[in-house]
Amino acid sequence: MRHFLEVDDLSVDELRRVLQLSGDLVPPKVLEGQGVALIFEKPSGRTRNSMEMAIVQLGGHPMYIKPEELGIDSRETAEDVVRVMAGYHAVLAARVFDHDRLERMAATDAVPIINLLSDVAHPMQALADLLTIEQEIGLADVGRVAYVGDANNVWRSLAIGCSMLGIDTAVASPPDHGPTEMDTDHVLALGGALLVTSDPQEAVNGADVIYTDVWTSMGQESQKEERLDAFERFRVDSTLMADASERGIFMHCLPAHRGEEVTNEVIESSRSKVFLQAHNRMHSARGLLSWLVGEAMEG
Ligand code: CP
Ligand code: NVA
Repeated sequence: MRHFLEVDDLSVDELRRVLQLSGDLVPPKVLEGQGVALIFEKPSGRTRNSMEMAIVQLGGHPMYIKPEELGIDSRETAEDVVRVMAGYHAVLAARVFDHDRLERMAATDAVPIINLLSDVAHPMQALADLLTIEQEIGLADVGRVAYVGDANNVWRSLAIGCSMLGIDTAVASPPDHGPTEMDTDHVLALGGALLVTSDPQEAVNGADVIYTDVWTSMGQESQKEERLDAFERFRVDSTLMADASERGIFMHCLPAHRGEEVTNEVIESSRSKVFLQAHNRMHSARGLLSWLVGEAMEG
């Protein structure tokens, strides 16, 4: 039984295969007559819509479930929910506050579990990010991928995915918002170089990709004011973009808070690939799902 809670739940070859399948414009109907349960504990625009349409393209039936309908760990345990759902659905995908809940769901090994974003990781986003980098620059050619801002779920999955493919990354964050030692050890162990700094210019210098995400993630709303102060120097603006390579592109998982982590000018510039990234969420979701219920089942 295979699960996808973080990008390196795949081997490097499997990651490359998923990205290849993402470009398959005649999707195999591997989900014909089957359901996929989608549970969201937090709001979502891109993830829900891209997953639902990817499932439809693979011949399956997406079923959106509000967490209050299930009462995970209140009405019944997460483990019992998964074992019941496994009788109806080929895959169970969930967006959760606490990554540990996903680990417990996967540990039942009753049905493949997909992480649709947790406090720790956002691997479905990273697949779309890698697909976008492949299309815009080429995964074999891309130089440094620089991330400016909070070393959060989106950063972690992106850094892991890049490192697996031998892509060098840099991350610039304010004190107390950078990667932990465990994070840096994890990313470095996968093969890519990683520069950790508190200087955005040092991270962006000559980079081919400049990536940022919100300063306050879902679930951190009570810290918003203190984060606005802490991250003030970490806004991606045109001056910072000028330090990127000539072909350097701007990326953001969205939703964006214009004027906070990125200026309107940068996100609206020709270097910005944010909508291509968002649209690639559907193609990469299709690639991951078709691998998970197809080749992963055989092997
Ligand atoms: N990027 C992303 O996951 O967007 P949503 O939160 O809208 O799904
Ligand atoms: N880091 C953000 C990503 C949203 C897609 C969050 O967790 O809210």
